Amino acid sequence: MSAAIPTPRGLPIVGNGLQVPVEGTHRFFADLAAQHPDGIYRLNLAGRHVVFVHDPDLVAEVCDETRFYKPIDPPLAHVRDFAGDGLFTAREEEEVWGQAHRILLPAFSQRSMKAYFPQMLEIAGNLVTAWSGRPEVDVSDDMTRLALDTITLAGFGQQFRSFEQAELHPFLQAMGSALTEAMNRTRQLPMVTGLKKRADAAYRSDIAVMQDTVDEVIRARRASGEKSNDLLGLMLEAADPLTGARLSDENIRNQVLTFLIAGHETTSGTLSFALHHLMRNPHVLAQAYAEVDRILPGDTVPTYELIMKLDVIPRILDETLRLHSPITAIGLASREATTLGGRWEIPAHQKVAVILKPLHTHPKAWSDPETFDIDRWLPEAKAGHHPHAYKPFGNGERACIGRQFALTEARLALAMLLQRFAIADPAGHRLTIKQTLTIKPDGFRLRVRPRLAHE
Ligand code: HEM
Repeated sequence: MSAAIPTPRGLPIVGNGLQVPVEGTHRFFADLAAQHPDGIYRLNLAGRHVVFVHDPDLVAEVCDETRFYKPIDPPLAHVRDFAGDGLFTAREEEEVWGQAHRILLPAFSQRSMKAYFPQMLEIAGNLVTAWSGRPEVDVSDDMTRLALDTITLAGFGQQFRSFEQAELHPFLQAMGSALTEAMNRTRQLPMVTGLKKRADAAYRSDIAVMQDTVDEVIRARRASGEKSNDLLGLMLEAADPLTGARLSDENIRNQVLTFLIAGHETTSGTLSFALHHLMRNPHVLAQAYAEVDRILPGDTVPTYELIMKLDVIPRILDETLRLHSPITAIGLASREATTLGGRWEIPAHQKVAVILKPLHTHPKAWSDPETFDIDRWLPEAKAGHHPHAYKPFGNGERACIGRQFALTEARLALAMLLQRFAIADPAGHRLTIKQTLTIKPDGFRLRVRPRLAHE
């Protein structure tokens, strides 16, 4: 028997749109999830009707790619203003998605991670140097520098040297403002966006700054005449193995911009949240120190092989991504009319959102869900996990292509920080979250002290 999907009461025209707060969105959705124990509800966001699911069995259904696909709707439709038909914001029917995906896959193989390792190590070394001279550090800012410099060096052979600048790179400032505007537009009626001329001019100018940065990266590579198998090298040289097609200059620009955005916001958020959880869980911090002292004793320089031997640190990252996924939701849409859970009727092309936190803490899939427990990720425990209760890297074909890159970079950075520094949080940081397209801790500072006697 079919049932009506519950919808909280809203206002005329804007529906539930104004109820979604600009700050504390995650709390709002956590409360809504708690109010809907069937794991499904619908919101009217200024005329856009979206069904939200967080029950793992319903999520399993919407992750079936024969029934659901990734639509490019707000906020991604706005991010498309600057990322165009790059992988993240390409529409399903755009042929260039498959071409770019196939051309770039080899650049994300395990073998490529080994090839990027020296660059990852160089930038992690810059982070260690930057922290060595300071008693206190701004965690999110420095993780952002680390991740941006790593993707630009490993992916495009460019040195951004972010640790040498007091201010974040102009690209980052432009990107931050453009993403904020893209999120604002998601909440506004299009008519309101059209009236905000000043905001629109600033948005255009931020997009121009980002595109100029990217054009310079591409120009420098072309001018150097260098041949490389990194991301940029593949895009400039390689043909799609299936169709023989090559990527256009405009598409390469969109891909580079996409990698700069997708490749650093998320990794930096993950590392910042991981440090937050370590401060809250001293027994896990002690385990991490013990592991680092065993695998990287003294000032051992990490190698790819040593980093792959880590066990506690990867589990810290897995558990961090469960409780704080930097990308907070994934969006899907039904291909045809269908029924979820045997009773919820969904019309064709219905937008469906999976908010990750309620899924990642659903009692059906997780015991003691709010506890930071890295033993959930021991092999025997992991074997018993619900197959669709953990989606920090998205779903199916459109899942994150950069997953191994991010995890290798994050393992290395965390291991090196713990090898070199005693980290403390004397002020007892109360977690506040900054949200743009992704989330990260806001104003999170740590006290750091060298661990090695000669530093
Ligand atoms: C897609 C998460 C790091 C590049 C995605 C998606 C998620 C995600 C959830 C799917 C989004 C959707 O369905 O709309 C993460 C997390 C990361 C991370 C949590 C770090 C911990 C990276 C890195 C790169 C990258 C380092 C690049 C080097 C991409 C790209 C896509 C994507 C290009 C689009 C894939 C496609 O649709 O073909 N990521 N990501 N990500 N990610 Fe990541």
